Amino acid sequence: MAKLIDGKAISGAIRSEIKEEIAASGLTPGLAVILVGDDPASAVYVRNKKRACAEVGIYSESYELPAETTQEELLSLIGTLNKKDTIHGILVQLPLPKHIDEKAVILAIDPAKDVDAFHPVNVGRIVTGDYDYLPCTPAGVMTLLERSGIDPKGRKCVVVGRSNIVGKPQALLMLHANATVTVCHSKTADLAAECRQADILVVAIGRADYITGDMVKEGAVVIDVGMNRRADGKLTGDVDFASVEPKASYITPVPGGVGPMTITTLMKNTFTAAKRAAGLK
Ligand code: GUN
Repeated sequence: MAKLIDGKAISGAIRSEIKEEIAASGLTPGLAVILVGDDPASAVYVRNKKRACAEVGIYSESYELPAETTQEELLSLIGTLNKKDTIHGILVQLPLPKHIDEKAVILAIDPAKDVDAFHPVNVGRIVTGDYDYLPCTPAGVMTLLERSGIDPKGRKCVVVGRSNIVGKPQALLMLHANATVTVCHSKTADLAAECRQADILVVAIGRADYITGDMVKEGAVVIDVGMNRRADGKLTGDVDFASVEPKASYITPVPGGVGPMTITTLMKNTFTAAKRAAGLK
């Protein structure tokens, strides 16, 4: 029987700490959240982000723009927010509609306000270990491990997925934490064999219930970043919980595992941005 890593509880505890720190600082951090189009999953994420802001004492502005919004209009809004003193963090929810160039949008955000840590300046600073912001989901995973007393040092970590948002930065953060890291992806020759090597397995491939018990080593720590909706409307991760849980030593549930931590890191990054703007950090 695996121990369940309760992301909701850990996240709640950290949000209380952040709330107290914000109140004690006398600052009002400000976050602008931009959503283009009507993707239902993105709309849920944006609503949860706004709710978390209210919970910890962060001022938030949200811009819910129609799918036909032009790239120029979006870049112009980002330009305005870059200059706005009450806004310390800018988040453009991804994915964007196909007619908008995601790279151009990320490049337009002032790196100092890039609380997602997607701008190449911030990505580069993470590679060298000299950063202000860590990307929300991978940093959330590291915090879950830390708060569960799991140290990646010297352990074999396998990351499944190589996206810019999760897989690649996750591998870097594991490396910074002194793990020995393997990154797997759709062209990996024998995914099951690679996964079976893992002491810590982090899965972010976006395929429902893809990792099954036979692909996991006895006693492994299994972190499921996936968030998929089944035909019956239920949320499920990338890990087949029923067959993996009996083999794992620790496992994250979906929902209630990594998801809440992503937003908690965003709150932390926005507070950091406000402190930096005030010359406090
Ligand atoms: N889409 C999925 N995850 C994320 C995230 O962490 N940040 C943004 N901006 N969009 C996302």
